[in-house]
Formats: sequence, C-alpha cells, structure tokens
Amino acid sequence: MGKPRYYLTTPIYYPSDNLHIGHAYTTVAADAIARYKRQRGYDVMFLTGSDEHGQKIQRVAAENGVSPREYVDKIVAGFKSLWETLHITNDDFIRTTEERHIVGVQKIFQELYDRGDIYKSEYEGWYCVPCETFWTERQVGEDKICHDCGRPVELVKEESYFFRMSKYADRWLQFVEENPDFIQPASRRNEMISFVQSGLEDLCVSRTTFDWGIQVPMDPEHVIYVWNDALSNYITALGYGSEDEEKYRHYWPADLHLVGKEIVRFHTIIWPMMLMALEIPLPKKVFGHGWLILESGKMSKSLGNVVDPLILVDKYGVDAIRYYLLREIAFGADGHYSEEALVRRINADLANDLGNLLHRTLTMIEKYFGGVIPEPSAAGDLDQDLAAVAQAVAQEIEEALDRLEISTALAAIWKLVGRANKYIDETTPWILAREEGMRPRLQTVLYNLAEALRIIALLLVPYLPTAPEKIWKQLGLGGDVRALPWQRVKTWGILEAGTVVKRGEPIFPRIDVEEALREGEKKVTKKAPMAQERISIEEFGRLDLRVAQVIGVERVEKSNKLLKFQVDLGTEKRQVVAGIAQWEKPEDLVGKKLVMVANLQPAKLMGIVSDGMILAASDDEGNLSLLTVDRDIANGAKIS
Ligand code: ME8
Ligand code: MG
Repeated sequence: MGKPRYYLTTPIYYPSDNLHIGHAYTTVAADAIARYKRQRGYDVMFLTGSDEHGQKIQRVAAENGVSPREYVDKIVAGFKSLWETLHITNDDFIRTTEERHIVGVQKIFQELYDRGDIYKSEYEGWYCVPCETFWTERQVGEDKICHDCGRPVELVKEESYFFRMSKYADRWLQFVEENPDFIQPASRRNEMISFVQSGLEDLCVSRTTFDWGIQVPMDPEHVIYVWNDALSNYITALGYGSEDEEKYRHYWPADLHLVGKEIVRFHTIIWPMMLMALEIPLPKKVFGHGWLILESGKMSKSLGNVVDPLILVDKYGVDAIRYYLLREIAFGADGHYSEEALVRRINADLANDLGNLLHRTLTMIEKYFGGVIPEPSAAGDLDQDLAAVAQAVAQEIEEALDRLEISTALAAIWKLVGRANKYIDETTPWILAREEGMRPRLQTVLYNLAEALRIIALLLVPYLPTAPEKIWKQLGLGGDVRALPWQRVKTWGILEAGTVVKRGEPIFPRIDVEEALREGEKKVTKKAPMAQERISIEEFGRLDLRVAQVIGVERVEKSNKLLKFQVDLGTEKRQVVAGIAQWEKPEDLVGKKLVMVANLQPAKLMGIVSDGMILAASDDEGNLSLLTVDRDIANGAKIS
C-alpha cells in the first residue's frame, strides 16, 4: 500500500485581466490545505490553471489589439508568477489551450454524443456576455438582466448542441441525499437541491457566434461552450482521454474542488451530471467559499475596485498576506477586505504575539544559558498545562481542517502562542534567574518555551511559507521543517537540549498603522485600467489610427449594446461594430468624423464582422464620449 492520495483543485482562472486579492484568496486557501495534507503524509496532487477560451477573452484580446493567443499567453504568465510570489505549491498548472486538454475535451464531447446525451437543436434565449451564461425568460425577469451580475443580457438565437441534463436530475438528487458531505457548506447544498427540484432544462453546450474555443469534433462550425470545456480540466489535467491515463487512474476521483460560491452551481450540478453520463465517479466534495468584498462591493475589474496582491506582498510580505486572508475570514462566509484590518492583524498576531514569544524566549536562553537550550527537569502543573494545550491544539486543528475551517485552525495555533506568552508571565524567568537554587526551574521553563516554539513552527507550515523556517533556524534546528511529519507536533519533549539557538532579526517587524494607511489604500486599490506599463514609440507605431467618417449606422438586432457602423476611410469603406448603443442615438452619428483603429484583426460580434475599432472614452460613472477630430480633415487621415 502506498500513501493515501489527495487530489484537490482550485477553479481555473479567466485570463481576461490580471488577478486580484479575491482570486488569490481561493488559491492561498487551497495551498494551505495541500500543504497540510502533505504534512499528514498524503500523496497530494494540487491543480490550478487557466480557463482561456470564450467570447469574453476573444473580445478583450480584440480590444487590446492582439490575437487571443498572444493575449492569454501574457496574462497567464502573470498568473504563474503571482502564484510563485505567493509560494503556491501547485503540482500542475493546466491551460485549456494545451493539447492534453483539447484532446480530452473533444473525446468527452464525442463520447456524450455517441451515448445520445448530446444532441443538436436550436437555442433561443438570454445570454450574459460577461458571465458567459445562458438564462431562461424567468431568470432574467422583466428587466432582462443577468441573474448573477445584474448586467443587461442579450437575446440570442442559434443552432446549438445540447446536453441532456434533465435526464440526470433524479439520479443527482439521490446522490446528494446519500452523500450529505458532497456539497459544502450545507447552506449551498440546500440551495442546489432546490435549484434541481425546481426543474432542469437541457444545457446548451456549443456556440457558433465566436471561434476562440475547442471545435466540436463532428461539427467544426461549433465551438464547445465554456463550461463543458472548463470543467473537464479536472480530468484532462490527469491525462483523461489521452494515451497515458495513469495519473487519472491514480488520482481520480478528486477529494476536493474548492470554488467560489458563484460557481458552485456549475461544479455541483453540471459537472456531476456530465460525469454521470460518462459513467465516471463523482468528486468527493465541492466546497463553495465566500467572497472577499470591499466597502464598494465584490472586487471586480468592471467595478474598478481591485486590490493587487503583488503590491500587498511587496509592502507587507507573503506570510502576512496569507495569514490575513486565512485568519480574518471564516472559511465559507464572505469577508470584508481592508488594509487597516490587515495591518492590525500583522501587528497584533504576528509582530506581538508570535514575534515577541520567539524574541523573548531566545533572548533569555542567550542571557541565562549562553544560547544553549537547557535540560529540563521534573514538570509541574504549569508545565503540564502548556504541554496539554499543545496537544489539544493539534487535535483541534485536525478536526477543524477535516471541515476545512482554516481560520479555526489558525485561531487554535494562536491559543498555544497565547498560552506560551502567559506561561512566561506566570513563571517569571527573570525572577528565577536571580533566586538561589532556582536554576533547574529556570532550565525547565526555557526548555518548555523552546519546545512550544518548535511545535508552533511545525503547526504554521501550511499557512506561512517563510516564517516556520525562520523560527526553525533561530531555534538552531536543522533540516527542512516543511518535510517533517505531523506526528512531530503531537509529541512533547523531542527538542534536544544542548541545541544552540541563533537569535536573528524580529521575524515580523511592527508596522506603523497610520503611515501604512496614508500611503496605503489609494496605492493598493488601483483603478484597474490605469496603471499600465509604458510602451515604446515603436509599439505605438504599430497601431494604425485613422480618421473615419460615419456614413451609416444601425442597431444590431437582438442586442441592446451593439451598433453597426459603415465608415469611410478615404481609400476604402469598412464595417465596424461597437458596443455603445445605450449611450448614442444612432441617427445623430451619421457624418461624424471619428477615430478608428484600422489595423485590428477583424472579429465577429453577434455573428457580424467588425473590421476595426472605434475609439471612445468612458469614466467610472458609465459616461461615454466618442473621439472626434477638432476640425475638418480628410477621411483616412493618419493619427500619430
Ligand atoms: O469563475 N473573493 O474564473 P474566475 C473571493 N473560469 N473569491 C473570488 C473573488 C473575490 N472577490 N473574485 C473571484 C471562473 N474569486 C471560471 C472557473 S472552473 C472549471 C472555471 C474566485 O477567474 C471565484 O469565486 O472568474 C472563483 O472561484 C475564482 O476566483 C476564479 O474566478
Ligand atoms: Mg468569475
């Protein structure tokens, strides 16, 4: 028998923009669980990745004037470096544009088709472009807005493939009843049960209005719609559908899919039903965590209130950021992010409680014993109590993490930190040092403090990537603290007397709250589109900006956003689609001389070719203004 296996995943992230602290939250939590499981002796497979297809990505790439491939390559490189900065220990990173994924997804689609669970029909209904989600008439309500994000939806009608989801409703309900731990927390489980009970429609699984996706194997006009593509990553990453399925056989079914609450529905209904249809075992657990929110609402690029994790790490260090995310927010619930709370946590828990415990202990070992950890003698009540708290804490952590209550586990560690600090006050080593005949007692006290710190360092391994090692080194201990088994936290008294400590700098310097906040929030909370890199004049020169005169304009049918322009570029006429219908009266635009990017790769929007891009300015209030020229100039005039 080998080690027990543990396969856990984060969602795969959309490279439609850089990641913010809310995304980092999911991955840091998953990383803590992965590290803990490794410490407990599991053979861990921890997967994360990027979800690179779909209309939204195609659109964003076009807006940035690059091909989708160029666009995602750049953003995904940023994801990977962010995960390195946060010391994320993922064992694999899947990109949905990789061959292993494409092969697997096509195989899954073909198989579902062959089994009769995917069929071709026509879709008519409401679609939210930013969320890439279809909604029923009932779900969009009278205002015709997205059920999830509240933005306006578009009416679309197209030939599509459908997955026979409705067929699996009963089996699903039975499964969820028999496996009460499958969906967690319980509140989300109840929500999902009512959703399925209220009746399921078959799921649209292909699109024809964009082409940045994986082709439907038997019908290349269609691309596989985003959720079937994305969800499959959890098995394609293991080689499912490839020539080498060894990892798949080894790790599947997953022990845990960790996801944000807004995608619980996809992970607990669509994904299991796909797996049922394929006769593949279901994952053991899907846990939906809450959101990190700012006063101004959930962090999102479109709201312009994203907090950049790189800036925070730079300012406060990776341990502090991870600690704050994992400690401050009860796992499963929403939590408010504020930089002030972050700084207060660092000062109270890390600099004061933990930092001082280490510093005081080592200073006293140096002062009274020349830096050598002394031999303990017979234990009294206080000593036994300290050891008992350490044991109880280890037990509490095991139970908390079985329920994925990461913040509870951290709170438990701080019980031991607090108990050890209190032990110093109770035993008053500085008095023992002065008193005749108290030398053996002083030895015991300082040994016990060092032993408590040894255990604390081990307990912190899953959450803080650098502090445990620093504590370990300062205690004079050798070897890699991260490689030691969990058993070492459960045995009191294995620290060797005679070890020479090496006191260093405080591991968590105190932060001046006022000062940090003064230069704080405004720097960290960046308005997403502003802080972009500088480009060279040559890069700018690659843009062919031209004056374009509007000769015709009409609304795009079934879209409340798009206008279709015919423009005169002097040497040629072009058709351009722009998403500005809400703000402009089309008839007023005819004759206007606008600014256009003329050398953008053509793209299709709602099936209509757009050959170029019209420039407009927009502000946070949603006001929009088209760029024009301030005097008459020839159509096609170059802008530089
Ligand atoms: O949903 N607080 O990708 P994504 C907490 N590609 N978590 C947050 C958050 C916040 N403010 N903002 C985002 C997708 N997240 C799909 C997944 S999986 C087969 C496909 C979390 O980049 C969010 O809840 O929009 C989700 O779990 C993850 O970041 C990825 O979000
Ligand atoms: Mg999302």
